[in-house]
Amino acid sequence: MRRVAVVGAAGYVGGELLRILIGHPHVEVVVACSRRQAGRQVDNVHPNLRGLTGLTFVEPDALDCVDVLFLATQHTQTMGAIHGFTRLAKQVIDLSADFRLSDPEVYRRYYGVPHQAAELLGDFVYGLPELHRDRLRSADRVAVPGCMATAAILALHPLAAAGLIEGGASVDARTGSSGAGATAGPENLHAERSGSMRVFAPVRHRHEAEIAQQTGVAVRMTATGVEAVRGVQVLCRASLADGADERAVRQAYRRAYAGEPFIRIVAYTRGLYRLPEPKILTGSNFCDVGFAVDPASRSAVLVAALDNLVKGSAGNAVQSMNIRHGWPERAGLEFPGLHPN
Ligand SMILES: NC(=O)c1ccc[n+]([C@@H]2O[C@H](COP(=O)([O-])OP(=O)(O)OC[C@H]3O[C@@H](n4cnc5c(N)ncnc54)[C@H](OP(=O)(O)O)[C@@H]3O)[C@@H](O)[C@H]2O)c1
Repeated sequence: MRRVAVVGAAGYVGGELLRILIGHPHVEVVVACSRRQAGRQVDNVHPNLRGLTGLTFVEPDALDCVDVLFLATQHTQTMGAIHGFTRLAKQVIDLSADFRLSDPEVYRRYYGVPHQAAELLGDFVYGLPELHRDRLRSADRVAVPGCMATAAILALHPLAAAGLIEGGASVDARTGSSGAGATAGPENLHAERSGSMRVFAPVRHRHEAEIAQQTGVAVRMTATGVEAVRGVQVLCRASLADGADERAVRQAYRRAYAGEPFIRIVAYTRGLYRLPEPKILTGSNFCDVGFAVDPASRSAVLVAALDNLVKGSAGNAVQSMNIRHGWPERAGLEFPGLHPN
């Protein structure tokens, strides 16, 4: 059994990491860190874990060496502490945004502060197995993608790689309230959030930078908070290259995702769930990807959905760990989602 620890374990992503790791056949969770909750029992904060763990939160300063260290801390704050963390574990898996972008100048533009550990950016592998599985097999430093970025990249990449997209793309993302974390401000009060459809990033959402870096497509991104706790859905609109039609689009997805354990192509002409919907993905590590082509305008709408706390963060992190250690990729990630939900 490998010994693993989670920093930022009292947050939503941290809680989801604990849930998955506690049920994982090859690891033992030995430490859960939280500054604010130090001294409290983990299952006081994450009540779904009652009866499954006897752990108590400890201060990050009390952390000792482990085999794998997960960082579920906030972006712009993780990079300042990274040198201390990398001394404590052979494998460090960061779920914040701090090591996803290879260019520190792009980081400064999108996150508004200079990068504090730019010398380490080259050490991190982008933790998206569908694009970087080979590099993840030996990756001791992993930067797990953003939740909306994961969905958009998985929708756009197969077409971009096959040369089927002409020009840039627009990404319209919708997200549930857990995407804002457990320490969100007044905007996430029930009275303000319930029933809302709030366009909180009309232009230049931060994930734009990751999507462009990973797909090579210039994207313009909008993000809206919708009436859900979990879930991300993205709609990517793109013009198709000369000669590209629906058959070519379907083939590109099939080729890219044949054999992928967590990607399903969902593009049906009948039924209730014809295109990807996060509703049936709650708790699962699947990302469903679908499309519709308009031959008249030679354009396509690409749709992807996932659970932001699983394939959009904690599940993707565990999948990356599984690859590094040579374990079955599905280990700890078998839950199929719920219907009805
Ligand atoms: N939520 C999502 O859907 C999602 C998806 C993908 C990636 N992410 C990324 O994953 C990381 C964790 O996200 P999360 O949603 O779990 O966030 P969260 O619920 O706010 O918790 C993150 C941790 O950050 C610390 N923290 C929170 N507020 C703080 C503050 N004001 N000052 C200092 N520390 C603070 C807390 O640690 P202590 O208890 O030690 O204070 C907390 O446990 C973030 O970088 C986020 O961008 C989130």
